Amino acid sequence: MAGSGPLEPHVDAFQRLFLEAVSTRPPPDAGFAAERAVLARLLPVTAPMAEAPPPRALPAGDHLDRAIAQGRAGGEGGLIEAVAGLAPALHWTYGYPDHPRFAGLADRIAFCEVVGLRAFRRSEQVRLGLTLMAPGTIYPAHAHPAVETYLVISGTALWQAGQGAAALRPPGAIVWHPGEVSHVMTTLSEPLLAVWSWTGDILTGPRYLG
Ligand SMILES: [Fe+2]
Repeated sequence: MAGSGPLEPHVDAFQRLFLEAVSTRPPPDAGFAAERAVLARLLPVTAPMAEAPPPRALPAGDHLDRAIAQGRAGGEGGLIEAVAGLAPALHWTYGYPDHPRFAGLADRIAFCEVVGLRAFRRSEQVRLGLTLMAPGTIYPAHAHPAVETYLVISGTALWQAGQGAAALRPPGAIVWHPGEVSHVMTTLSEPLLAVWSWTGDILTGPRYLG
């Protein structure tokens, strides 16, 4: 299925609409300008459609239909439709070891990659994907060397990074995490669906802190 024709327009709408959002929305802070320029240089990835890992479900995926439905009522409809088109082909992963203090996270958080290392269009410089979280879930403090930009497309959750205060970020919000900055996301009554990009060291995975 991966690499078949019907996915291509969804992969490219996903890239185009993410790039459009990060290029035109008010930046999360002044420091984001440099990363915005990096993303504008690297996206869209136009490498030929590649064989991606086969579709794979995880328990958190049970919340995808609701996230898509609630996302359709919000302002990110184009990206939501791209996700809906990609949904049958997505390979969801979790990847962290068990957390010493939070149980069951592997059933409540999931990630997939749309562009990047093992994705529909390949790049070794930028990765683009989705994070899906069940309602009522803490994604505990974690960090990674890659520079990360998030665009929320469904669900209002609490986001906290570095020494900053936690804040509610609704669909449409852009969240920027410089490399190695600790960040935490906490969902409330809604699932969270957000597009992420990684640049810089995209080979080193994330790790929980403490
Ligand atoms: Fe992150």
